[in-house]
Amino acid sequence: MKKNQDSGPNSFEKSKMDAPKEIFLKDYKLPDYYFDTVDLSFSLGEEKTIVRANISVIPRVDGVTCPLVLDGVNLKLISVKINGNQLQEGDFELDSRHLILTSPPSVNFILETVTEILPQKNTSLEGLYMSSGNFCTQCEAEGFRKITFYQDRPDIMAKFTCRIEADKSLYPVLLSNGNLIEQGDLEGGKHFALWKDPFKKPSYLFALVAGQLESRDDTFTTCSGRKVDLRIWVPLVDLPKTEHAMYSLKAAMEWDVDVFGREYDLDVFNIVSVPDFLGAMENKSLNIFSSKLVLASPETATDADYAAILGVIGHEYFHNWTGNRVTCRDWFQLSLKEGLTVFRDQEFSSDMGSRTVKRIGDVSRLRTYQFSQDAGPMAHPVRPHSYIKMDNFYTATVYNKGAEVVRMYKTLLGSQGFRKGMDLYFERHDGQAVTCEDFFAAMRDANNADFANFLLWYSQAGTPSVNVTSSYNAEARTFSLKFSQTVLPTPGQPIKEPMSIPVAVGLVNSSGKDMPLSSIYHEGKLESVSSGGQLVYTTVLRVTKGEEEFVFSDVSEKPTPSLLRGYSAPIRLQSDLTDDDLFFLLAHDSDEFNRWEAGQILARKLMLHQVVNFQSDNPLVLDPQFVHGIKCIILDSSLDKEFIAKAITLPGEGEIMDMMEVADPDAVHAVRSFIKKQLAFELKQEFLNLVDENRSTEKYEFNDVNMARRALKNTVLGYLACLEDKETNELVLNEYKNATNMTDQFSALAAIAQKPGKARDEALANFYNQWQNDYLVVNKWFALQSSSDIPGNVENVRKLLSHQSFDLKNPDKAFSLIGGFRASLVNFHAKDGSGYKFLGELVVQLDKLNPQVASGMVSAFSRWKRFDETRQNLAKAQLEMIVSTNGLSEHVYEICSKSLAV
Ligand code: TRP
Ligand code: ZN
Repeated sequence: MKKNQDSGPNSFEKSKMDAPKEIFLKDYKLPDYYFDTVDLSFSLGEEKTIVRANISVIPRVDGVTCPLVLDGVNLKLISVKINGNQLQEGDFELDSRHLILTSPPSVNFILETVTEILPQKNTSLEGLYMSSGNFCTQCEAEGFRKITFYQDRPDIMAKFTCRIEADKSLYPVLLSNGNLIEQGDLEGGKHFALWKDPFKKPSYLFALVAGQLESRDDTFTTCSGRKVDLRIWVPLVDLPKTEHAMYSLKAAMEWDVDVFGREYDLDVFNIVSVPDFLGAMENKSLNIFSSKLVLASPETATDADYAAILGVIGHEYFHNWTGNRVTCRDWFQLSLKEGLTVFRDQEFSSDMGSRTVKRIGDVSRLRTYQFSQDAGPMAHPVRPHSYIKMDNFYTATVYNKGAEVVRMYKTLLGSQGFRKGMDLYFERHDGQAVTCEDFFAAMRDANNADFANFLLWYSQAGTPSVNVTSSYNAEARTFSLKFSQTVLPTPGQPIKEPMSIPVAVGLVNSSGKDMPLSSIYHEGKLESVSSGGQLVYTTVLRVTKGEEEFVFSDVSEKPTPSLLRGYSAPIRLQSDLTDDDLFFLLAHDSDEFNRWEAGQILARKLMLHQVVNFQSDNPLVLDPQFVHGIKCIILDSSLDKEFIAKAITLPGEGEIMDMMEVADPDAVHAVRSFIKKQLAFELKQEFLNLVDENRSTEKYEFNDVNMARRALKNTVLGYLACLEDKETNELVLNEYKNATNMTDQFSALAAIAQKPGKARDEALANFYNQWQNDYLVVNKWFALQSSSDIPGNVENVRKLLSHQSFDLKNPDKAFSLIGGFRASLVNFHAKDGSGYKFLGELVVQLDKLNPQVASGMVSAFSRWKRFDETRQNLAKAQLEMIVSTNGLSEHVYEICSKSLAV
């Protein structure tokens, strides 16, 4: 596929429009036509569905005639009319992606189309398709064009009605966006429903569901007294598993009023759970979710599942304001809604549970997925400059780094300033499709803020590296922090500019207490830190230059600096803190995040050190000071137990590999396993005590105290299971047998499954027997096995592909088994190439069924250059094999070709 610079509806040429092309942000043009109202009518049939669309069209500039280009993919056009008159050949052109009306009226007109689509044949999970016998839709990003001909772009916002007609016994429930206006029976065993959405929306928020579903019903009264009907739709058998989802929805509705003053705006809010779905979708008043993000019971879902459901239900609900009421002008602005909404769901979950623990989880995710993306061939800015398939840009960068960018506004402006900015954003842009600059401008204008070069966070890819050196001058009682920053080149961006980086800093005195901060010299000026006589212990330094110094005055003793508190910017920080400083912060920092971080920095150093030992055939050793540090943490009863669980968890293998010149998965795996086992050995008694103290048979509850207890017990159990002795083996097995909820049962199973052997085989068989009829639990069982580090595991994974419970067409199953395999870095990067070969073959198979799922998998190859030559050649061979496959999707093509281009 060749790069095609030509884009935009004004410059169409038939031959060019037929070929796939790269789309550029700089080419954005206003649409030539707007749509005002859209009346859709569906006659649903599994094999064949007829879609009628009646659209009132308004030229952007009255009296100017230009072609109207409608998107359409896999559609059969039955008829097209303008103002009631059938168009003749010559009035329009049709290619595989468009319907082009060559010279439509230059004043308002009505466009009517009739198209035919084949839901049964649609395995892409995009457009209208069947999931377990029910009709459902997914339109983001560009799936509406698989339903009917349309200007399928988010700056086309229209008021929709949707009439659905279907067989009544097969599809008793008919849902779409907005309010139900009318319903009734029709001849031939059919019935219909008419839905009307009073809010203008882009086509990507359209949704339709039809099928045999039951609902859990509840109500929520908003702050202004509107009573909202809440319904969660699932197959009858799953109704008991919807309690937590309903709890989450109501909590989210309340939270958005409390924290952002945002009220729900319709009389009904529906959530539908379906087995075949990619994630979850915020369609106006009709959210659709993959079942695993809705269904939970104590016996079948883990604490992590409960937390994910809370977060995602919140996320999709919060989109109603950040995404739906105010949407994106074009898809390059995706982070405008996703970064902001991820930030909102993170804050929601923080307020519902432990803030520090949530932050640690979010930062770990950022480091694992976003940092590695930023360092590879797919690196792109939070607002990408170009794409071939937009679906490939629903990334950790757009979502998670985007959320960090929003968080930085809050860090810079404070809670109240941030809220003012949000209020102005909604005031200015409600009902509009806008850009990231509009969000920036609202934040700036509401606060009269000076945001020097902050917009670079949207346009410059790559993770900034910041280096800090400190010095204390006892005579002058000053403490200096010198910063320097660099951003490495990324594809298409060889030269980088310094970023604007908010660094939250506190100074800790020798007894471990925060010192009050008075003022700071910066660029020849003395600025007071405290405001209004209040003592201040943390201040935010704004680092905006390549090199910059900040000097704290009136510092009474040499402090230990606590840098980047709460992880105030998405950067890699290096400092001159010594190991002693870090152990001191681990023990004393008032910023809990930085306590955790100090431990992680120590662990990373320690692991890298041992990797060198391993590579030079020296014996591995564990620093006693580190063991002591861990011991202090687990014995500190003032700490949150879930925090302890996080603090004693070693950095992931990927994180360590990222810090190496040449990534060596075998060495990193050996070292991490060694340290884990050694810690278990040295702290065995403490760990055994922790298991005893934190075991409980009480009824499962999703709350902080209980979750923290389980997290600590199960983390420790994972350690103990590394030991070879009979006592611990029996203990772990008993934990498995006596578990009364999935969190405990699955953790114990995972602990047992670390070691190959009879106990493992029996436990896995036992677990499958117990849960074979619950596909969500079986997915966990698949993922546990596929992500296992046991040697040569690729063969087991291959066998599981033909397991009776597996189905490549279901994305959650595919991600569990095939996606899960990538999580074992030793096995995926096996030096014989068996892991690469396995994934390569499956990407090709998956691509034929579902390009979005396939491209999600293939990114595991992206960073092939990070490895030794043998691995490089093996991985490259797979990428080349995939790219040369006939009929490859643009999705997979885009990732593979960019990966090979480095
Ligand atoms: N807007 C969805 C979200 O909340 C993203 C999404 C869900 C999506 N399903 C999708 C995007 C399928 C592309 C394709 O994050
Ligand atoms: Zn989202």
